[in-house]
Parts: sequence; C-alpha cells; structure tokens
Amino acid sequence: MTEPAPPRLAVVIPCYNEAANVAPMVARLDAALAGIPWEAIFVDDDSPDGTAARAKAIAAQDTRIRCIRRIGRRGLASACVEGILSTAAPYVAVIDGDLQHDETILPRMLAALESGEAEIAVGSRNVEGGTKGEGLSPIRRMVSDGGAALANAALPVKVADPMSGYFALPRALFDELAPRLTATGFKILLDVLLSAGRPLRVAEIPYTFRAREAGESKLDATVLLEFGGLLADKAMGGIVPLRFMAFALVGGIGVLVHLMVLGLLHGIGPVGFWPAQWAATLVAMTANFLLNNRITYRDRRLRGPRLLRGLVLFYVVCGIGAVANVGIAGLLLRDGVAGWGVAGAAGAMLTVVWNYAVSSTLVWRA
Ligand code: GDD
Ligand code: MN
Repeated sequence: MTEPAPPRLAVVIPCYNEAANVAPMVARLDAALAGIPWEAIFVDDDSPDGTAARAKAIAAQDTRIRCIRRIGRRGLASACVEGILSTAAPYVAVIDGDLQHDETILPRMLAALESGEAEIAVGSRNVEGGTKGEGLSPIRRMVSDGGAALANAALPVKVADPMSGYFALPRALFDELAPRLTATGFKILLDVLLSAGRPLRVAEIPYTFRAREAGESKLDATVLLEFGGLLADKAMGGIVPLRFMAFALVGGIGVLVHLMVLGLLHGIGPVGFWPAQWAATLVAMTANFLLNNRITYRDRRLRGPRLLRGLVLFYVVCGIGAVANVGIAGLLLRDGVAGWGVAGAAGAMLTVVWNYAVSSTLVWRA
C-alpha cells in the first residue's frame, strides 16, 4: 500500500455556524491546491447548526480533512491557535470558513514562504491588486481602516492589511511564538506580528474580499473591545492578565451603577440609607455579573440554569470579598499602618483580586 504524501501545507479553518460553507470550502481548496500535498483542519466551537458533523462526514471519506470540535469554548483566535498546534505540516495557513477569503492565492502564499522571500504571507486587501470588494459594509470599512491605522502604530513593521484574518507561516515560527500569544478576539494575525519579538519579514499577496453568501458575520461590539484588549495586553508586555483588566474595568462600572442607584433612591425620598445601600449593592453586583458574563468571560459564557447558579455564587464570592475589604482596611487603620485613603484603597484592591481569582475558578471555571 502506498501512503499518501504527508501534507506540506495545513489549512486551518475556524468555523462557527458555517455548515453550508463546509463542502464548498473543501471543493475550492481541492481545486486551488492541485499539486500540493495539503490537509484542512476545521476548528468548530460546537456550532448549533451542525458544522462539525458536516466536516466529519467529509473527513470520513477524505483523509486530507480533519475536524476539531471544541465544547464550552468560543473564540476565533483561540480556535486558530488550536488548529495550528494540531498539525505536523511544515507550513500552515489560516483562512475564514465563510468563503470570503480567496483561496486561489494560497499557492502564492506558500511559494513566498518556501522561497524564503517572507516569514509570513498575508492575504491583503490593501495592496495593489487587492480590494475590499463587497465583503464590507461602509461602517465595517471605516472600522477596518481605523483599526489598521491603530495597529500600525503598535507594529514593528508596516503592514497594509494588519486586520486580515488570512495568512500563512512556517509551523516552526508559530511554535516558537505561540506561548506569547494573547489569543483573544479576532485579530490573530496582529497577535502573531506583535508576539514575534522582532520585526517579521512580511509579504502581502493581494486578493479581493468576497461578499458572504451563506451564514452571518460574528463580529460584534465585544469583538471590537477585544481588539482594544489585545493592544493593551501587548502594550503592557502581557504582565497583567487581560481578563483581570476587563474584570477591574467592569468593577469600575459597578461603582458607577451603585452610585446611580443610590442617588436615584435618595431622590425618590423616604428611603433610608441602609435599605438604599443594600439595594444599590445588589443592583451593582448583578450588573457586574452580567457584564462579566458578556465581556470578561465571553468565551465561557453561562446560560440557562447555569446562569442562575453562577449569579448566586457570584453574590457569595463578592460578599466574602466585601467583608475582607472592610476587615483589612479596619486593621490597617487600627494599627496605624495607614490613613483612611490608603486603608480604603488597600481593602478595595484586595477585594478586586479576591473576587477575580475566586470567580474565575468557581463561577466561570474553565
Ligand atoms: N471556531 C470559531 N469560534 N470560529 C469562529 C468564531 C468562534 O468563536 N467566531 C467566528 N468564527 C469564524 C467564522 O465562522 C468565520 O469562518 C471566520 O471565523 C470569520 O468570522 P466572521 O464572523 O465571518 O468575520 P468577519 O467576516 O466579520 O471578519 C473577517 O474579516 C476581518 C477583516 O475585515 C475575519 O476574517 C477577520 O479575521 C478579519 O480580520
Ligand atoms: Mn466573514
């Protein structure tokens, strides 16, 4: 029996609700990569539309196709990372699973890497010969251009299309920088460029961004927030965990919510301070829980009955945090270690760290 040639190029395809696009994707890769040994790895986050089942049905017939089905996790960047880490091919490419990226330039991207012309090949909409086509609405176009300008301010190399989700690189290079990746949000290419630790030699290969035919875009406001988070994480050298920053930010919003409720109840009239303070605390904690569930722990979002259980746990965790806060501040004050301001701030800091550490292990456990 002759073994098929081992793949030279692995094509990683992040998918969420792309069932209708799986078979066309395989057919297009088959045509575009004729003559090159390749494999395709669909990375699906347990899409309700059965994307993984479609990919596995094809994989059962075609050894070049594989599928990773992740459960309980969401995220474009982390899906790409897992797909890339799963291959033994010497070169890897990442391409969207919705057919918006033009697969016919894959051989040129691979050639740029194999010839040593570049360390990373980027499918680019912003160089001569490439366009944004009809793939982006006018608003998305503005967001994309603004993001590109912001990204270039942070990048050690100029890239015309740093917001591209379409790129290829040698696996060895990825293996080397993988431990430094932030791996959150949509901007995996930007993450790679910022995590390399040196300016990479980039080749941008033009293509036209196609309009989406089936399914819908998953880009929303939180994805934009995550973009800001990625830049912040890289700016701070990855010292403070991104999740902690988000958690602290949400905590800050909680303080504002608390003060608003308190002010509102005070304005209404005959509500005493203590009941008002209790009500404000409950509202703020609930708001914090929901915001953390939506933003900080977006990839582990709780739903249904687990949402309620999480909320109750969160109340308990924050309650203990509040007691510790008052206790520590009181001790510091009593022993004359600190004055009011410093004691209060120390208590509050301790509470944020406690709430964060415990809720990420108990409430939103991975
Ligand atoms: N596994 C997994 N998990 N895949 C995901 C997730 C997720 O949480 N979210 C999105 N995807 C997949 C989609 O199914 C699609 O194949 C690909 O990632 C891109 O997602 P879209 O929702 O289609 O993104 P877009 O078209 O708005 O954004 C594209 O254009 C940007 C530039 O304008 C993407 O290519 C971005 O990477 C690119 O930067
Ligand atoms: Mn898309």
